[in-house]
Amino acid sequence: MEGKGLTPRPELKCVRGLPLIKYFAENWEQVEKFQARPDDLLISTYPKAGTTWISEIVDQILNDGDIEKSKRDAIFIRVPFLEFAVPGVLKGTEQLAAMPPPRVIKTHLPVEFLPQSFWDKNCKMIYVARNAKDVAVSYYHFYQMAKVHPDPGTWEEFLQKYMDGKVSFGSWYDHVKGWWEKKKDYRILYLFYEDMKENPKHEIQKVMKFMEKDLGEEVLERIVRHTSFQVMKENSMANYGTIPTSIMDHSISPFMRKGIAGDWKNHFTVAQNEAFDADYAKKMGQTSLRFRTEV
Ligand code: A3P
Repeated sequence: MEGKGLTPRPELKCVRGLPLIKYFAENWEQVEKFQARPDDLLISTYPKAGTTWISEIVDQILNDGDIEKSKRDAIFIRVPFLEFAVPGVLKGTEQLAAMPPPRVIKTHLPVEFLPQSFWDKNCKMIYVARNAKDVAVSYYHFYQMAKVHPDPGTWEEFLQKYMDGKVSFGSWYDHVKGWWEKKKDYRILYLFYEDMKENPKHEIQKVMKFMEKDLGEEVLERIVRHTSFQVMKENSMANYGTIPTSIMDHSISPFMRKGIAGDWKNHFTVAQNEAFDADYAKKMGQTSLRFRTEV
């Protein structure tokens, strides 16, 4: 991955009202016409909800728990990012065109923006949701280290933009609710980051079942171990350590930052928390979707 011709920190650009990383927006046509295959498995998340974690889990399951096989390449090669586009780097759609089945595909798109073919082909999908406060904190750090994003400003400023849905991939609130509704009609396994933290074995078992893989207790235990935060943090094929610093600068904030539920308490002031909760109640009042902000 080179990233030549990259302007650091370009402003976001909207596609049909959805704010996106400028380069992603400029490649939108390719994404929209993407042709899914019936055996594609889609991993969908709002950014920072545990995408890399679930991707590693799925890839290890697909490889029957053969850890060495899962180290064959970096996670963003094993599980291409559909809408990814940065100058000088192979686009997600290009990677996918050359990939033999079964493909596991990552997306951060809100449900209404997913290319139609995924619905037409009735692909299996795994959605991971994480509580809004921890996502905000994680996203703030990610904006700082991943230079394809605009400057996040101060934490206070970023938090306001996040609450207003003026960050890349738009509103967290609409994202989690949109996918939650869609699961009534499609093959979507909806998971929570906090449940995965609390009982990884149980949640990984659910994923195995959804993927129709029965690998036995020993393999399950192995996958639990090798997808733990500590192990993934040290795994250069999972921790984004191979990306050039012109794109991601881990010295600003490592991609594998803390990996916990409840870190928001170290960042939100009392006033920010009150304002956030009041706004949250308005935006999330009508949904049956419930989150835990600590485990
Ligand atoms: P923090 O910034 O809170 O540490 P994504 O992959 O969607 O970009 O999400 C990244 C977040 O998931 C980061 O959160 C990262 O540390 C966390 N994460 C990655 N792998 C994890 C794991 N195995 N267990 C728990 N958290 C993990």
